[in-house]
Amino acid sequence: MYAIETDSLKKSFHGITAVENLSLHVPEGSVYGFIGENGSGKSTTEKLICGLLVPQAGEIRLYGKSHEDPDVRSGIGALIENPACFPNSTVYQNLMLQALNIGVKNPHEEIARVLRLVSMAGAAGRKFKECSLGMKQRIGVAQALLGRPKLLILDEPINGLDADGMRIVRETLTEQAKQEGVTVLISSHILGELAKIATHYGIIRNGALIREMPASSMSDECRDFVLVNTSDNAKAIFMLRTKYKEVEDSDSGIRVYDEEESSNVTGFLYQHGIAVKEIVFNKVGLEEYYLKVMSKIGA
Ligand SMILES: Nc1ncnc2c1ncn2[C@@H]1O[C@H](COP(=O)(O)OP(=O)(O)OP(=O)(O)O)[C@@H](O)[C@H]1O
Ligand SMILES: [Mg+2]
Repeated sequence: MYAIETDSLKKSFHGITAVENLSLHVPEGSVYGFIGENGSGKSTTEKLICGLLVPQAGEIRLYGKSHEDPDVRSGIGALIENPACFPNSTVYQNLMLQALNIGVKNPHEEIARVLRLVSMAGAAGRKFKECSLGMKQRIGVAQALLGRPKLLILDEPINGLDADGMRIVRETLTEQAKQEGVTVLISSHILGELAKIATHYGIIRNGALIREMPASSMSDECRDFVLVNTSDNAKAIFMLRTKYKEVEDSDSGIRVYDEEESSNVTGFLYQHGIAVKEIVFNKVGLEEYYLKVMSKIGA
């Protein structure tokens, strides 16, 4: 079953389309990386799913039920754009307000639990306005985790985090998904970091979903290769083609597909008297894949 399924969702603001004909499929238990350039409609989609905005057309189902169903709605934890906190209240007071608002049992213990999860226990007594940007983001994640929701919607939660903060949030989200079966919809521009946790991706452009797939199928479209430069590339290409089915000349060097061991390529070229100047195994990353998809679609 899908944790989130939208069908032909549409939202425009004063006649300007923000989301168009958008049909998302977020599998239960997945960490769904929602990617797209600035203004492509990520936050708008997330607000629609959370019921913070009303669509002009389309449907939203959460776990097979309408997103307006109060039971389903109470199972969502969200951080969209910025944490909703009072600046002059402490972190603890802000979390307590939210905990009471959503009817959390044992709110004191629950606040301690979520603050521990994001390593922010020491900041409980600090006024929210006195927290740094990264601290505020982590508190926003803690706020979303209150009451153990089974669906987390996080809009750029790792923005402004230092390396340690990113690791903490990454580990928390992975643990939530793997051990608690929580589904996470997460948008981020930090693709290298997103790639460490996402099990699925959706790419949005100008309000329309242009790609949706499991992370595992990324390599079907964008294959890994060994990139090599030699003392004589023309000869090297000729020789490599006697062994490998796909050898391509490119601006950055010779690409040898279907070979994961760069040492095999080095050894082969050495046997044929060709010196290797540089060689790297190029594993296709999310960033490269994303740019490739965007360039295919055209600017
Ligand atoms: N309240 C609003 N009123 C008018 N236009 C809006 C409003 N909210 C969003 N938009 C417009 O809708 C489009 C999508 O915006 P949205 O915030 O969803 O993009 P985004 O993908 O989250 O971008 P970013 O990566 O910058 O956060 C943009 O053109 C934006 O200007
Ligand atoms: Mg946004």
